[in-house]
Amino acid sequence: MKLLVTGAAGFVGFHTINRLINEGHSVVGIDNLCEPDTVALKKIRLSLLGINPEAIADARPVRSTIAQFDFVKLDILNREQMLSLCHENRFDAIIHLAAVAGTAMSKKYPTAFYDINTTGTLNMLEAARLSNAKHFFFTSSSVVHGKLSKAPMSEQDDVDSPLSMYAGSKRAAELLCYTYAQSYNLPVTIFRLFNVYGSWCRPNSEPMRIAHSISVGTPVKVINDGYLVRDFTYVDDVVDGMIFALNTPSHKPGQSPYALYNVGRSTPVPYLSFIQSIEMALGIPAIIEQDTTDPFSLGEHVEMYADTTKLESELAYSPVWDYEEAVPLFARWFKDNYNVNFTI
Ligand SMILES: NC(=O)c1ccc[n+]([C@@H]2O[C@H](COP(=O)([O-])OP(=O)(O)OC[C@H]3O[C@@H](n4cnc5c(N)ncnc54)[C@H](O)[C@@H]3O)[C@@H](O)[C@H]2O)c1
Repeated sequence: MKLLVTGAAGFVGFHTINRLINEGHSVVGIDNLCEPDTVALKKIRLSLLGINPEAIADARPVRSTIAQFDFVKLDILNREQMLSLCHENRFDAIIHLAAVAGTAMSKKYPTAFYDINTTGTLNMLEAARLSNAKHFFFTSSSVVHGKLSKAPMSEQDDVDSPLSMYAGSKRAAELLCYTYAQSYNLPVTIFRLFNVYGSWCRPNSEPMRIAHSISVGTPVKVINDGYLVRDFTYVDDVVDGMIFALNTPSHKPGQSPYALYNVGRSTPVPYLSFIQSIEMALGIPAIIEQDTTDPFSLGEHVEMYADTTKLESELAYSPVWDYEEAVPLFARWFKDNYNVNFTI
């Protein structure tokens, strides 16, 4: 297949492209390499995919030295460039991962979150429609489960009560995806991801923040007296699921070609146990500090994990990695690379 991956220099984008090129697909990856603090990490991810970071310049394709992969520094907000890229390449599928993430950040920059996550998704849907792409794959987030949701979070939940602009922008993008499937018969699959972690993880993700605080000896802040339940999903599981989904776009007779799945390990993990597993794997004790802020005001639920019944029944797939097995892999990677190849 010939595929476009947006957010190619990001955490999930890196792992996705790595798998796709190993399976022999031809991939074009785009990213605008935004957020100055994370550019170094993004360039490392690209170099691991065979892209020479020195050769990257606006809108100039750079060919990978190891696979059928081209990287182009482009911004999804440039609708004309997205249209011509997709028109010229006629991708079989578009995997749209580019986004800005984080509830706290979205409070600071609400319009940027709306522009990139919502309008950016609209631009990619429009490019997919006009270039006759056969499948549009989009990653939404568990954060769309707002005030009215209760764990385990299911696709049937009412998600129209977002607790942050990150949630609102992703929920709006989900609705645009549905609209394109319904109005234009564009096959769409959405994965709502629950706390993904693994090597080359996003610096502002929970596992990275915990590992970083433990390593440098600063407190790990916990809310709600430490009573929080979370779903942690290993990145290999997400990529496996994506491959399943790419091969099986939804085709239900009489319905629009649209499928949305909650994707998590679906095992409720006490937050303090997750911290403990990272401290054990790093071999450094964590300093825990209580934060009395109300979870809802931070856009957080006390209990949050996925109901994966639909994923299992419709896609015949479910994540398999338990945190007890995957955290040591993540921690080993962190130990080997933090302050060697990247800093936070
Ligand atoms: N990692 C998780 O735990 C998690 C959980 C839920 C949802 N998601 C979603 O999965 C997707 C990938 O997440 P990630 O963890 O890899 O994030 P990431 O921040 O590592 O990657 C996103 C990439 O998008 C790029 N980008 C941002 N704005 C862009 C623009 N205007 N044009 C082009 N590129 C742009 C960034 O430079 C970055 O490399 C996102 O849509 C995110 O919302 C991730």
